[in-house]
Amino acid sequence: MTHSLKACRLWLTWASLGLLTLLAGCERPPMESVQHGYRGTGMVQVYNPRALEASVEANEVPPAIPAGDTSGPKASQIYKNVKVLGDLSAGQFNRLMASMSIWIAPQEGCLYCHNPANFAEDSKYTKVVARRMLQMTQHINTEWKSHVADTGVTCYTCHRGNPVPSAIWFKSNPQPYGANFMGDKAGQNHPATSVALASLPNDPFTPFLLEQKDIRVNGPTPLPSGNRHSIKQAEWTYGLMTHMSSALGVNCTYCHNSRSFQSWEGNPPQRRTAWFGIRMARDLNKDYMEPLTSTFPDHRKGETGDVAKLNCATCHQGAYKPLNGAPMARDFPELTGSGVGQAKLAQK
Ligand code: HEC
Ligand code: HEC
Ligand code: HEC
Ligand code: HEC
Repeated sequence: MTHSLKACRLWLTWASLGLLTLLAGCERPPMESVQHGYRGTGMVQVYNPRALEASVEANEVPPAIPAGDTSGPKASQIYKNVKVLGDLSAGQFNRLMASMSIWIAPQEGCLYCHNPANFAEDSKYTKVVARRMLQMTQHINTEWKSHVADTGVTCYTCHRGNPVPSAIWFKSNPQPYGANFMGDKAGQNHPATSVALASLPNDPFTPFLLEQKDIRVNGPTPLPSGNRHSIKQAEWTYGLMTHMSSALGVNCTYCHNSRSFQSWEGNPPQRRTAWFGIRMARDLNKDYMEPLTSTFPDHRKGETGDVAKLNCATCHQGAYKPLNGAPMARDFPELTGSGVGQAKLAQK
């Protein structure tokens, strides 16, 4: 009798300890849910109202400096070494420099990119990178309206007052199983925040947001012959989907009809926007980030010597639209091509 009581107490202690460990990974209820698709399909978004409140604060935008005077000579006439912003007036040019300082390096200010003895020289790598970033931002706002619409982006969308955006990624180092095994772990069974701590491949970005591998789970044929859609590849796909959900702070059904994840029929329009987002991320990583590899110093590079690259979280940072949909580009026609920048882009 006493024996079994003791055993029972011991069991209870273990059980409650186990329960505590399990619950440590949970968010405190109550949660709120909002229907986001056809009835009976389980298409519901689940929100934690307390987490949402904190995220509203984190996504506030610094006030824009009042627009610069557009009259007077152009920057190209006053300054020595302007290759992108030459068509701006001096007023517009200086306002953009001041805004870039707030967005990228509020502590160091102008000196983060400039040698104070000579603002025209390109001796700091940060200035060379910033010039390419200006072109990248204009490119996003003009060529990727299929994703960013008129909301657009500024440097702040990614940088948020930091020289290095908080969400970037590098290629993962190959991890062989050990001397006696063939193959590569593919970054699995090594919980990583890139895939929300699931044991999925921890770098789903190289194949899908840099290379153009197929994002597929099911192959087109029942037999493996000619069917390159293996379980392994399905795991990469789920790795990317997990990243997309957590980058936007949404559930899978924000984009998918739960009736069939493969079919596009009856999907919310957000899936189409996301499709363009994947293509945009590939384009930016390939044409803007990778070519900057030799410009960046070694201490900014990854384990394999590659340059930092962007994914959905670089802009979204947990919100369904970056900065909860704040119209970032509206106050900066210099970055949208609707202002002076357009003439420049047309010349290219
Ligand atoms: C994030 C990097 C960055 C910061 C911060 C920055 N600049 Fe610049 N600046 C640039 C880039 C890039 C150019 C070249 C633009 C071009 O090629 O069109 C430039 C060019 C200039 C020029 C033209 C120099 C010449 O003769 O060619 C001046 C003047 C200037 N910046 C002033 C400032 C001032 C003042 C500040 C601080 C309020 C500042 N910049 C902050 C990146 C930066
Ligand atoms: C789509 C996201 C995105 C946008 C928009 C963006 N950047 Fe960047 N930026 C990055 C990434 C990713 C890096 C690489 C991080 C690193 O430096 O290792 C970077 C790096 C930089 C660096 C180098 C910082 C350092 O210390 O190494 C500068 C300077 C910079 N960006 C300036 C700008 C300016 C100026 C703008 C706006 C005209 C801008 N960026 C817009 C994503 C972005
Ligand atoms: C932000 C929108 C979005 C979210 C959130 C999202 N997906 Fe996707 N999903 C897509 C898009 C877009 C594609 C098609 C990608 C392509 O073909 O380039 C896709 C493709 C897929 C496929 C491949 C289907 C096939 O053709 O074989 C599966 C499976 C899938 N998603 C499952 C999920 C799961 C599970 C989740 C939640 C963990 C999820 N998705 C979250 C947008 C989303
Ligand atoms: C360069 C910054 C940037 C990157 C990178 C980015 N997005 Fe976006 N995304 C935006 C902006 C800006 C909007 C708002 C567009 C609008 O107002 O319609 C947006 C909107 C969306 C929407 C529509 C949300 C809604 O409710 O209408 C989805 C879905 C989305 N993004 C998914 C993605 C996915 C998935 C990725 C990564 C593959 C991604 N985004 C990468 C900037 C970005």
